[in-house]
Amino acid sequence: MSGIDAPGTGRTAQDDESRPAQPPTSPPVTTIAEIGRHEGRRVLLRGWLYNLRESGKLLFPIFRDGTGTVQGVAHKAAVTAEVFERLRGLTRESSVVVTGAVRADKRAPGGYEIDVEDVVVLQRVAEDRPYPITLKQHGVEFLMEHRHLWIRSPRQSAILRIRAEIVKAARDYLDAQGFVLTDSPILTPAACEGASTLFPVDYFEDQAYLTQSGQLYIESTAMALGKVYSFGPTFRAEKSKTRRHLTEFWMVEPEIAFATLDDLMKLAEEFLSFIVQRVLAGRPRDLELLGRDTAKLEAIRAPFPRIRYDEAAAMLAEAHAHGLLEEKFEYGNDFGSPDETYLSSQFDRPLMVHRYPASVKAFYMQPDPDNPKLALCVDVLAPEGYGEVIGGSQRIDSLELLERRIEEHGLPRDAFAWYLDLRRYGSVPHGGFGMGIERVVAWICGLEHVRETIPFARTLNRIYP
Ligand code: 4AD
Ligand code: MG
Repeated sequence: MSGIDAPGTGRTAQDDESRPAQPPTSPPVTTIAEIGRHEGRRVLLRGWLYNLRESGKLLFPIFRDGTGTVQGVAHKAAVTAEVFERLRGLTRESSVVVTGAVRADKRAPGGYEIDVEDVVVLQRVAEDRPYPITLKQHGVEFLMEHRHLWIRSPRQSAILRIRAEIVKAARDYLDAQGFVLTDSPILTPAACEGASTLFPVDYFEDQAYLTQSGQLYIESTAMALGKVYSFGPTFRAEKSKTRRHLTEFWMVEPEIAFATLDDLMKLAEEFLSFIVQRVLAGRPRDLELLGRDTAKLEAIRAPFPRIRYDEAAAMLAEAHAHGLLEEKFEYGNDFGSPDETYLSSQFDRPLMVHRYPASVKAFYMQPDPDNPKLALCVDVLAPEGYGEVIGGSQRIDSLELLERRIEEHGLPRDAFAWYLDLRRYGSVPHGGFGMGIERVVAWICGLEHVRETIPFARTLNRIYP
């Protein structure tokens, strides 16, 4: 056992050695999330002092340990004078090992309190350099500058736990459906989603870029393995400051040989429903801490409404005519944020908009045989104004058409030679989609901005810490 594990008694190790052997009284180490299992018994918690209220002979420390927070009570009469003095005036975020008995308390946020018996301080935060994040309101810039500390706040920790649940749910779902995880490279020789948002990297003598999407590579692993997915960081040099855009974000991308657009829409609605229901079941306390209206999430069950781009455009024109939308939507454009917000606000589930004009979408999308001006693609717009969370399509499977598109888009043919091979050797219809983790976290948590959905957000103006 390390010193941290040892039950704190306020004595030093040397004192202990000089005493006769004591009966073992070491209480079990536990976490705040698990504290309820130890009701009525002594436990040992390891964490940090989140806050401390003092009232004469009573001290009310709040401890946090990464799994939650719990209030402690230290009566002057119930602890040694030494322990009382050690805790009194203890600075916020000092690291501590606490021994105490677990007591059920209906008024306590988690349902339990700790009757403190002992506190060992591992590191005391200096009085003249107090923890910078106080319980008062701070500006967002200040908080982002201190993001390495801000993530300790209960709210931010709850968001990160929910993010982890979402990532795990996404993987579990695809794994259970027989998808094989195939990682795609981050250093790539060419664009996937438009040259204007590429991050250049000096690759020895060559020019390389950070990947915008694993899609092109998993099209090839899908031809090898059938049903695959990639899950990794993706990069876009987005020069716009919006609440939905990061320059580095995580995308999960399933890709399926022989899939049609209908197959993709079915997968997208099942996938998203599974993820939302998993978070509701697994993270109820975190959702509560965030004040999330969970009734809105309960409603997220497949099937989702599906409308064509044309229908969506008509809805926007009508909304503009009735003064519900400020800016007029021009048919043939991609939707702007206000357009997406308006469209999604008309439904209580994510909205699937399919068959956009090919001209506003990526070069690789399969045209609709009924109207080749349209692409066999789908965007899934989250409710409550969270915008596009999934974008996907069928991929062009004809060699001639793909060659033409690469040329029309001014893309470097050499860099795509391998991609064209996929249409040369047993080409089949196929498709997939990408889901942006941060946008899904923002939606499920009900956050204003994606910057709080990832431990260290990368945006146009920030790459520190
Ligand atoms: O619609 P996008 O650009 O699609 C693709 O990249 C396809 N190659 C994916 C595929 O078919 N395999 O991006 C997919 C999703 C978006 O719906 C959005 O959720 C997220 O990625 N996304 C971003 N999230 C945060 N910041 C950004 N700058 C994002 N750009 C896209
Ligand atoms: Mg998109």
